[in-house]
Amino acid sequence: MSNWYRHMLQSPETASRIPVWMMRQAGRYLPEYRAIRQQHDFLDMVYTPAIAAEVTCQPIERYGFDAAILFSDILVTAQALGMALRFSDGVGPQFDIPIRTGDDVARLQVVSGWLDPIYETVERVISRVSPQTAVIGFAGAPFTVASYMIEGRSSAQLPHTKRLMMTDTRLFETLLDHITDVTIAYLVGQCRAGVQALQLFDTWIGTLDWPSCERFSAHYIARIVRALREQGCDQPITVFGKQTSVFYPLYEAAGVDVISVDWNGDLGRMDAVLRRGMGLQGNLDPHYLYGSKSQIQARVQAICESVPSHRPFIFNLGHGLMPDIPTDAVQWVVDAVRAYQRPVVTV
Ligand code: CP3
Repeated sequence: MSNWYRHMLQSPETASRIPVWMMRQAGRYLPEYRAIRQQHDFLDMVYTPAIAAEVTCQPIERYGFDAAILFSDILVTAQALGMALRFSDGVGPQFDIPIRTGDDVARLQVVSGWLDPIYETVERVISRVSPQTAVIGFAGAPFTVASYMIEGRSSAQLPHTKRLMMTDTRLFETLLDHITDVTIAYLVGQCRAGVQALQLFDTWIGTLDWPSCERFSAHYIARIVRALREQGCDQPITVFGKQTSVFYPLYEAAGVDVISVDWNGDLGRMDAVLRRGMGLQGNLDPHYLYGSKSQIQARVQAICESVPSHRPFIFNLGHGLMPDIPTDAVQWVVDAVRAYQRPVVTV
């Protein structure tokens, strides 16, 4: 049996089955995750390789997803730059001392060895899952990580971030440069530890206009892609953001291999304009998982049919699973993707 994730990216026209995994597949909707989480702080779980590897594998063991995404968080790179992070229930991530001034940026300094436990998690996951399962490493993209460092917590409109971007663009770009450098080192470390694919999360690009997305998001993603290639990492790179359905031409130009699409986009329309060979991933609205089995089946099938067989396509959600998603519904999605027979292209 082949590794469908890799098969799809290498020769999509002969992949009769669409690989499937889900953003936030390791998380609170799973009772086995909550059982471990009850006993540990979230960040302790992230930095304890035995626990992080166990949690990474939980959804693989339950559902047989085609890819295991490393259990970690996008904000570990901010910690690796010396920022103090905590997670509190109901609030999410918090930096009590956010970045607001030049002095704040000047204080950032790489904490040597900080990310080493995460490389060990990667090694443990690889030795545990079967070769049929692709192991995906990830990092937050610089813009989205910077937005948390500046806001200090989750925010819908990113007011401080956008103000700094306008009033001191050079300082904002210096911050993005620091994050970019640590992100490149982190992703190279994950590749050396053995991940077979990478995903960059630039979740909050929907707050940007087109020129800002090009300058503050896509430009840094292009730099990361180039640096990884220069350092011999040839793993396929996916970019996700809420509004890649709008900004995808910028990411196509940035040199990524796969664009992970939020639920606003129509994959068929995107297919019509993307270059041959560019992969798509997505884009089921996770709220369908509150619906009936037949609603789920119909939408999954429509999404699968919207991408022609010559284009690499990985089934996923348009954003992460919510903590109250029923576990059965996840199985129905997986079953519906598996039931879909992709027409094989004969040349
Ligand atoms: O299963 C997976 O997808 C792998 C692990 C993963 C997590 N976070 C675990 C997590 C991944 C890939 C992420 C990425 C991440 N983290 C993003 C980008 C993707 C996205 O969802 O947009 C962002 C923006 C974050 C930052 C973050 N981490 C927030 C805003 C929160 C709070 C919201 C929440 O769900 O509690 C987290 C916490 C977090 N990251 C949890 C998990 C499993 C929940 C922690 C808990 O158990 O309390």
